Amino acid sequence: MKKTILVTGGTGFIGSHTTVELQNAGYNVIIVDNLSNSQAGVVDGIEEITGVRPAFEYVDCCDKEALETVFSKYPDIDGIIHFAASKAVGESVEKPLLYYRNNIVSLVNLLELMPEYGVKGIIFSSSCTVYGQPDSDNLPVTENTPVKPAESPYGNTKQINEEIIRDYINSGASVKAVLLRYFNPIGSHPSCIIGEMPNGVPMNLIPYVTQTAMGIRERLSIFGNDYNTPDGTCIRDYIYVVDLAKAHVKAMERVLETDSDKLEIFNVGTGHGVSTKELVDAFEAATGVKLNWAYAPRRSGDIEKVWANTDKANNVLGWKAETSLEDTLRSAWNWQVRLREKGIQ
Ligand code: WQD
Repeated sequence: MKKTILVTGGTGFIGSHTTVELQNAGYNVIIVDNLSNSQAGVVDGIEEITGVRPAFEYVDCCDKEALETVFSKYPDIDGIIHFAASKAVGESVEKPLLYYRNNIVSLVNLLELMPEYGVKGIIFSSSCTVYGQPDSDNLPVTENTPVKPAESPYGNTKQINEEIIRDYINSGASVKAVLLRYFNPIGSHPSCIIGEMPNGVPMNLIPYVTQTAMGIRERLSIFGNDYNTPDGTCIRDYIYVVDLAKAHVKAMERVLETDSDKLEIFNVGTGHGVSTKELVDAFEAATGVKLNWAYAPRRSGDIEKVWANTDKANNVLGWKAETSLEDTLRSAWNWQVRLREKGIQ
């Protein structure tokens, strides 16, 4: 029988791509989203890509009563993937309580409801932000690399969420959990039907790059060229969002169908560090589009360099990032072109 997965934040960037991969793998999906940073039309896009319309419930996971009505309406939920969260680092500094409420209350509500409704496992969207700036001899980071004090309330919510899940499992709760620590997810579905839709001026590198290439932004600033890296610009591990989505399918299979440990952590990255300058060059080479860019002062709070050791995900989860950086960057550009064709951006 088909298994049913509740995907919170399923109309968002990573949630929508993961819903597509779950449906392609034969799961039923119920999306719960409050549309605070996404559009209901994404559900149409998922249907267009997969031929299957996921159930959609317009619910805020912080509203426990409303959330419980979803569990009663769909009594056969086997697993949860919890994406729904506020995720802007700068905003979290200005509105910490909003972040603590949104990101912590929602998780506690889900964990409380899981055993009541017989839900076996949860996959939690964590982040490489928990590693902060690792010491040089800890690069690439493994899952055992020490977690550093968070740099922002947002980062702190990810750490606290991990601890809440760990404490709950250690208390003997009858649920399993996987923490996926994402590195930098980029790109868009090859169909160009779903993709990344930042509100306002993008904070993240790739939407800023594609919007600059499209002429929406005048110039990309590369923040800092005096870091202790080969070309002086920061290094990240950029992972294709569709590859990342597939890691969730593997993690869900592992939680529901194997007797794996009750709590497991996996880094989800490519295992390769790429500098900002290398990324800009790769974008130009992959798309043939010239980018107007200039070096600018460092952005405060930026990590100098971090990338993943992915051995555990490769060997234990049986998952590997497969898509080249060039194909990934082309997908991001094709999505931007599609947004322009549709008159959106
Ligand atoms: C990447 C690199 C910038 C914009 C974000 C989240 C973080 C985590 C991962 C979820 C950096 C440089 C950027 C620009 C630039 N996500 N840059 N010019 O900072 O690694 O982290 O994703 O938990 O919480 O904040 O990603 O895309 O903002 O930056 O030079 O206009 O690009 O300095 O080196 P970051 P990013």
